Amino acid sequence: MTDTTSLPRDPGTDDPLVTFRGKTPYDDYVHASVLSSLQQPLTDAPDEMAFLVTTQVMELWFTLVVHEWRTTRDALVKDDHERAMDALRRSISAHHALNDSLQPIARMTPAQFNGFREAFGEASGFQSAKYRQLEFLLGDKSRSLMNPQREDPRAYAELEELLNERSLYDEILAYLHRRGLPVPDRVLERDVTAPYEADPDVEEVWRRIYAGPQNDPLLDLGEALTDLAELVIRWRSDHVLATRRAMGSKAGSGGSSGVAWLEKRAARPVFPELWSARGHV
Ligand code: HEM
Repeated sequence: MTDTTSLPRDPGTDDPLVTFRGKTPYDDYVHASVLSSLQQPLTDAPDEMAFLVTTQVMELWFTLVVHEWRTTRDALVKDDHERAMDALRRSISAHHALNDSLQPIARMTPAQFNGFREAFGEASGFQSAKYRQLEFLLGDKSRSLMNPQREDPRAYAELEELLNERSLYDEILAYLHRRGLPVPDRVLERDVTAPYEADPDVEEVWRRIYAGPQNDPLLDLGEALTDLAELVIRWRSDHVLATRRAMGSKAGSGGSSGVAWLEKRAARPVFPELWSARGHV
């Protein structure tokens, strides 16, 4: 551990400390020097730095969102509504920041993208382990989408753990059941390694909540989840648009058909009954 204690200074000054025995306490805590050593563009193309930094920043936001969703899930298991809502609200703020962070590369032209596209070869966001964790927590499980991590034991084990655990949505439905709502056993006991599929009785549970008193804390929970679903849908759609602008109908670096494949992925449901229930209130 670096010794970061400050050196003695003149009494009576109100300026910040400027001399330390080792690295600054700031760097010791934030690891800013490590972070700023991680941008290693492969070309001189003017747009590559923005692409690299944006991707790294998004990875950090994925990390925070995953952290907050895990915290929400753990709080719900303990029926701690307040702690769950706090973490859910923090995750909403983080997801806003995640979506906004696409800005620096949202309008790349094909020529600008081509300036560095060949250099990163087969690298693709599709291989992001953190993004896959995020999808698993939403309930969109897939063993086959873990394959890119097969040769990375730590990343694979982390995904496998989430695959076998209840997702955030599974845990929310279990919580609603404990609060007296008729979530059916087939949903509570579902195979959690499979993608979540909409259920008519869950739709009825949300309908009941939405048709009831508007100050019900469970309605607050439903609205926070709807905010999140909207943010996830917007991230997917903004990513598709940025991709379409940068490469049109070309194939993706990760081997997919590109925009056509992404559009199918973007259409996947997020907390489906929270949307369908509204048609019956
Ligand atoms: C304009 C820049 C970008 C382009 C042209 C682009 C293109 C693509 C394409 C074509 C795919 C499909 C998989 C493939 O064949 O590669 C994909 C997937 C993906 N990209 Fe991007 N991407 C861009 C920026 C980003 C950034 C900054 C991130 C942040 C980490 C990101 C994250 C992802 C993720 C997570 C997937 C997988 C989506 C899924 O599994 O449904 N992309 N991207």
